[in-house]
Order: sequence, then structure tokens, then C-alpha cells
Amino acid sequence: MLVDTNKGYGLVSISLHWLSALTIIGLFGLGFWMVDLTYYSSWYKTAPDIHKSIGILLLMLTLFRLAWRLLTTKPEAESSHKAWEQTAAKWAHRILYLLMIGIMVTGFLISTADGRGILVFDWFEVPSLGSFIENQEDVAGLVHQYAAYTLIALVVIHAAGAIKHQLIDKDGTLKRMLKPVKK
Ligand code: HEM
Ligand code: HEM
Repeated sequence: MLVDTNKGYGLVSISLHWLSALTIIGLFGLGFWMVDLTYYSSWYKTAPDIHKSIGILLLMLTLFRLAWRLLTTKPEAESSHKAWEQTAAKWAHRILYLLMIGIMVTGFLISTADGRGILVFDWFEVPSLGSFIENQEDVAGLVHQYAAYTLIALVVIHAAGAIKHQLIDKDGTLKRMLKPVKK
């Protein structure tokens, strides 16, 4: 129920997947919108503060998620999926994890390049590690932006694949990520 088995996902992985998915889509929309705000908008400072705070919490959640993935049993691919589909899904998942971490690390590097830490919702502060790349704010900003676009493009393909398998092949792929596996 809670833990993954080789047959399917448990409640922990399912909750982590959907909570992360909603948060990432929200952060994408917020990021896209906030960079065009002008100094005169009341959201000029608040929106990036919210974006960074949620981003840091998501980074912590994602590190836990990765540890969970690496330390607990990994569900096997659906046996009805073709070999190339299993390989494609495996690499898509790896690249999704890589992009998520890359985006969050570059987000941290943009925000802390001026030596100031990130105050997470007036709750705790993540200290800056300073600037150690030339033009860190701009370089990290560019990587952050394009990695976020790439992630969303890959997510569209990923979700389309899951929906196609569920509705056309009727092999229960999406259901696996919705209903926890029984022991
Ligand atoms: C930001 C959005 C999303 C991200 C970053 C994401 C990422 C991932 C990752 C990394 C995995 C592999 C889980 C693991 O085994 O560790 C996964 C699995 C899965 N995702 Fe997503 N996902 C997102 C959105 C969606 C959406 C919108 C759908 C469906 C409409 C979906 C359906 C699935 C399904 C069905 C699986 C299980 C695949 C299998 O059994 O092999 N995901 N997702
Ligand atoms: C998966 C999580 C995240 C997503 C999907 C995301 C997405 C985005 C997007 C789409 C933009 C706008 C880029 C542009 O069009 O110029 C942006 C900007 C930004 N993000 Fe994120 N972000 C995430 C996490 C983070 C984190 C963890 C931080 C910091 C701790 C952060 C800090 C920033 C900053 C400072 C900007 C403004 C950059 C600029 O002015 O060029 N982001 N983000």
C-alpha cells in the first residue's frame, strides 16, 4: 500500500509524483509570468519570493523522492509494453529527474549569486554559497529557462504516452500511478 513493489507504485511514490507534477507546472506558470513584471507591479518582489520558496521546498521533496526511488523496490515496466517503449520510458524518467534537479540547482545559483541567501516563506533561510561561475546569475538564468522549457516539452510527451497507453492500449499504465498497489 505505502511502498512500491515490483508490480506497481505505492502511496508514497504516487503522492510524491502528483504533488511534484502540480508544483512544477505551477512554478513554470509563475516563473513565466513573473519575469515580465515591472517594478511598479505589487507582485514585483512577492512573486519571485514565492517562486524561490516553493522551489526550495520542492528541491527538498525531490531529494527525498530520489532517495526513495533509489532505496526502495522499483516497479517493473508493464510486461505488455514493447522493449523500445520500456527503454524510452526508463530514459524519459531519468531525464525528467535530471532536468528537475538541474532546474532547481540553477534556480538556487541565480538567486544566491549576489551573496544573499533564500528566505523560505519567513520560515528558514538557505545560505548562499556565493558566486563561483563567471556571470553566474546570467548563465544559471539561461540554463534554468531552457531546462524548464525542455522539461515541460518532455512532460507533454510523457503524459501523452501515459494517456495513450491507458485509453487506446487499455493496459492500465495511468491507473498504476493513481491506485496504490496491494501487497
Ligand atoms: C511536471 C509533470 C511531471 C513530471 C516531472 C513527471 C515525472 C515522472 C517520473 C520521474 C516518473 C518515474 C517515477 C519513478 O518510477 O520513479 C513518472 C511516472 C509516471 N508518470 Fe509522470 N510526471 C509528470 C506528470 C505526469 C502526468 C500529467 C501524467 C499523466 C497524465 C503522468 C503519468 C505518469 C505515469 C502513468 C507514470 C508511471 C509510468 C510507469 O509505470 O512506468 N505524469 N513521472
Ligand atoms: C522545477 C522547478 C522550477 C521551475 C519549473 C521553474 C521555472 C521557471 C521559469 C519558466 C522561469 C522564467 C524563465 C524566463 O522565461 O526567463 C523561472 C525564473 C526564475 N526562477 Fe525558476 N523554476 C523552478 C524552480 C526554481 C527554484 C528552486 C529557484 C530558486 C531557488 C528558482 C528561481 C528563479 C529565478 C530567480 C527566476 C528569475 C530568473 C530571471 O530573472 O531570469 N526557480 N523559473
